Amino acid sequence: MVELEVLTADDWPRWRELRLAALAAAPYAFGARLADWQGDGDREERWRARLSISGSCNLLAALDGTPAGMVSGIPGPRNGVVELISLWVSKAAWGQGVGDHLVHAVEQWAVQERAEVLQLAVAAGQRARDRAVPAPWL
Ligand SMILES: CC(C)(COP(=O)(O)OP(=O)(O)OC[C@H]1O[C@@H](n2cnc3c(N)ncnc32)[C@H](O)[C@@H]1OP(=O)(O)O)[C@@H](O)C(=O)NCCC(=O)NCCS
Repeated sequence: MVELEVLTADDWPRWRELRLAALAAAPYAFGARLADWQGDGDREERWRARLSISGSCNLLAALDGTPAGMVSGIPGPRNGVVELISLWVSKAAWGQGVGDHLVHAVEQWAVQERAEVLQLAVAAGQRARDRAVPAPWL
């Protein structure tokens, strides 16, 4: 069963744990680099600030009680636009609908925010070969 939780800044340790795992496991997927959030970059106030972006929504997903994924919705570059960022599901949980739940939750949040456009930025080079369950034609 997939359960979603909306995080506050006080939840930063759990966000940090998953985010560092995401940056380590899928560096090809994100603009940020693992090194940006390690060492001097790995500070409580920084994690709190990340979860305190005005008008944002930050979600953790658990699959059968185990933390399994994350996503954020943040205000976009202009009125009426919001962005989906930081989407990640741990490899052990791929292909079980966690990603779908996270994306749908951000869609619902976008509707509540009265957004007209939900943007998703995808890194160049992202390909279907990374999918959990290989398509029969691959
Ligand atoms: C992409 C990702 C979030 C998918 O998570 P997931 O929990 O495995 O996704 P789901 O099980 O909910 O699958 C949702 C749908 O996406 C499809 N899908 C999943 N990964 C895919 C991929 N890499 N390429 C193409 N389709 C994919 C699934 O087949 C499914 O399609 P369906 O509903 O038609 O059956 C996960 O693989 C991941 O975290 N990857 C590394 C980080 C990343 O790429 N983040 C996105 C940055 S834009």
